[in-house]
Amino acid sequence: MVRTTLRTILLAGLAGVATARNCKNLTVSLSLSALNTNFALQAPANDIDVTDFVLNLAQPGMNYSQEVLSTSNQFIPVSGNYTIGATWCVPQWGPGKVLQVLTHGIAFDRRYWDFAAQGHKYSYVDAALARGYSTFAYDRLGLGASSHGEPVNEIQTALEVAALTELTSMLRSTRVPGVTFRYPKVVHVGHSYGSVQSYALTAAHPELSDGVVLTGFSQALGSFVPYFLLGGNFVEAGGVYPPGYMASADVPAAQTNFFAPGNFDQAILEAAYEAGQPVTVGELMTIGSATTRNNSFGGPVLVITGERDVPFCGGNCLTMKPSIPAQTEQYFTNASYFESIVVPRSGHGLNLEYSAQDTYASILDFFDKNV
Ligand SMILES: *[C@@H]1O[C@H](CO)[C@@H](O)[C@H](O)[C@H]1NC(C)=O
Ligand SMILES: *[C@@H]1O[C@H](CO)[C@@H](O)[C@H](O)[C@H]1NC(C)=O
Ligand SMILES: *[C@@H]1O[C@H](CO)[C@@H](O)[C@H](O)[C@H]1NC(C)=O
Ligand SMILES: *[C@@H]1O[C@H](CO)[C@@H](O)[C@H](O)[C@H]1NC(C)=O
Ligand SMILES: *[C@@H]1O[C@H](CO)[C@@H](O)[C@H](O)[C@H]1NC(C)=O
Repeated sequence: MVRTTLRTILLAGLAGVATARNCKNLTVSLSLSALNTNFALQAPANDIDVTDFVLNLAQPGMNYSQEVLSTSNQFIPVSGNYTIGATWCVPQWGPGKVLQVLTHGIAFDRRYWDFAAQGHKYSYVDAALARGYSTFAYDRLGLGASSHGEPVNEIQTALEVAALTELTSMLRSTRVPGVTFRYPKVVHVGHSYGSVQSYALTAAHPELSDGVVLTGFSQALGSFVPYFLLGGNFVEAGGVYPPGYMASADVPAAQTNFFAPGNFDQAILEAAYEAGQPVTVGELMTIGSATTRNNSFGGPVLVITGERDVPFCGGNCLTMKPSIPAQTEQYFTNASYFESIVVPRSGHGLNLEYSAQDTYASILDFFDKNV
């Protein structure tokens, strides 16, 4: 009876949505503040400057982020009112008990989780809905339908983690306008940089999550980020983005960083490139420091990464025993359960490769069993 009532309210709430998939696009206002890193650096003004920046950041034996730190103040307080573009989806039969908060990585926006090409054949969201989970995917602060910003000292990891933290506490207390249901459990799924941010969230606020899945992740990022930088063929993103927002110049760069040999459909690679989103100077300079500390999160953790992942494994996650993603167990000192999976033959862009359905099933099995 209660269930029927909830369902009726929910469906009424979603009545304005054209799709049969029970998804609703939202714009969420957030008031945020964070302590960012203060870099004394001009945003690269053209493609030559972008390449110089990449060569500096990728240089072995140097810490370029350290070199360009402001000599007056290492940290800079940033605050403001921002908006986040998000999509909330619920299963046909009602919201279920668990909401998954999905944070995408570099080169994508929220569409990574619900890729529309080929009739949603590569949709993690559809797989989650079919198992009774609701999803909340959003464009990370700085890109897509979310507020854009200054690319050196504003759009950085600390401010983006503040956005994820605030979104999560608003979702938990039904303060996101349009998301009317109070979910008994809220879990986090990240991809790549989104996993880095989900790690940072659960390390700083373990009480805000009931389970975390880090996809396309390891803690060896520091060793392999130069591969990603040099493989990415970065140029100014242009368009609606100011200088200092960078994107891959061509399809082969997207292939190098996200797709493993023999494991993808060329049309999906091209669609992923077309949908590509930029990365900021400030993001690239602060990505490494967010996962160096231990994490006392007390819930269940899954790390799932493609065997051929470039940025987090250098192209082979199995060069160590246990695997490179499995090494993350040492950092989760208080997890109720830890599991790691290396997806055979897959690259970094797990959701968009031939092995995608296996990846989705592994993630959803983990949630079914542990949350
Ligand atoms: C909702 O947002 C998604 C992701 O940005 C977009 O692809 C889709 O067209 C939007 N739908 C509507 C009805 O605006
Ligand atoms: C580089 O310097 C930054 C800023 O001081 C620091 O946060 C980061 O941990 C350093 N990285 C390495 C690999 O030492
Ligand atoms: C954000 O908005 C609130 C109310 O709309 C306002 O009081 C506050 O000053 C704003 N904060 C910033 C940093 O602009
Ligand atoms: C470990 O996690 C539990 C929640 O499961 C929490 O109550 C406890 O405070 C955590 N321990 C540490 C040392 O953070
Ligand atoms: C992190 O936890 C490991 C145990 O898993 C411990 O050996 C290490 O000293 C811890 N590191 C820090 C910085 O606390």
